[in-house]
Amino acid sequence: MSNKQVLLVLFVVLMFGIIWLWAGDQAQSAKHPEVDFSISCVECHTEVTPQAVKDWRGSMHGKMNFGCYMCHGDGQVEFYPKPGSERCIACHSGQEVDFSKTPVKNCFDCHKGHTLKFHTGNE
Ligand code: HEC
Ligand code: HEC
Ligand code: HEC
Ligand code: HEC
Repeated sequence: MSNKQVLLVLFVVLMFGIIWLWAGDQAQSAKHPEVDFSISCVECHTEVTPQAVKDWRGSMHGKMNFGCYMCHGDGQVEFYPKPGSERCIACHSGQEVDFSKTPVKNCFDCHKGHTLKFHTGNE
């Protein structure tokens, strides 16, 4: 390979690396299993994932009935199985974190999604 070709290959590899890092930072819109969405998230998930609902109910969000959609989307147009922090700041403006200065990437690296309890990342 000529020097030019080597540089081109390196450039392409670098671009893929950047795109990959960028994509890793975005909350991914995915697909919820096909279900009957006329039933509420909480009602159905009390059966399918009881622990998730129990934890949420016991949290500040559950007590105020700030629902699953707040983080996971409506399940149809938008669905985020592993949500990011985008939606938190509207209500928690006092908690804004400059993630470029921390080793963590989003609120959930420190807070469990359902209990909201602080965790170390190992649990
Ligand atoms: C997905 C992003 C997000 C994260 C992470 C988040 N919240 Fe909250 N959250 C509250 C309120 C109200 C409380 C209870 C009062 C407080 O601690 O500020 C609370 C409490 C908390 C607590 C403290 C729990 C405790 O036991 O002390 C954490 C942690 C938290 N929220 C994290 C309204 C909201 C709203 C408004 C619709 C949104 C959106 C929201 N929260 C989105 C988020
Ligand atoms: C009629 C039942 C039903 C309804 C309604 C429902 N779900 Fe689900 N949901 C499921 C089933 C079944 C699964 C798969 C569970 C599993 O794999 O263990 C699932 C999985 C999930 C997961 C985990 C996906 C993953 O990849 O880890 C999330 C998050 C979720 N649902 C959120 C919601 C939200 C938010 C709503 C309301 C907008 C909702 N669900 C409504 C049945 C339902
Ligand atoms: C404050 C944001 C927030 C709310 C509100 C919330 N979740 Fe989650 N949920 C998360 C996060 C973050 C994860 C990803 C945890 C992980 O895998 O790192 C998650 C994961 C899940 C999962 C897959 C893992 C598991 O625990 O089974 C299910 C199922 C789920 N949520 C269901 C629900 C349901 C049902 C509700 C409403 C009762 C709900 N969530 C409300 C943030 C939230
Ligand atoms: C580096 C870890 C870390 C990150 C990232 C983080 N938090 Fe926290 N947060 C904590 C700790 C530690 C506490 C206090 C201990 C506790 O209450 O569990 C706390 C407490 C809170 C409280 C309760 C505050 C009060 O006055 O009682 C809220 C609300 C909150 N965080 C929201 C957020 C939101 C929203 C984000 C994302 C923008 C976020 N946190 C990101 C570690 C973190």
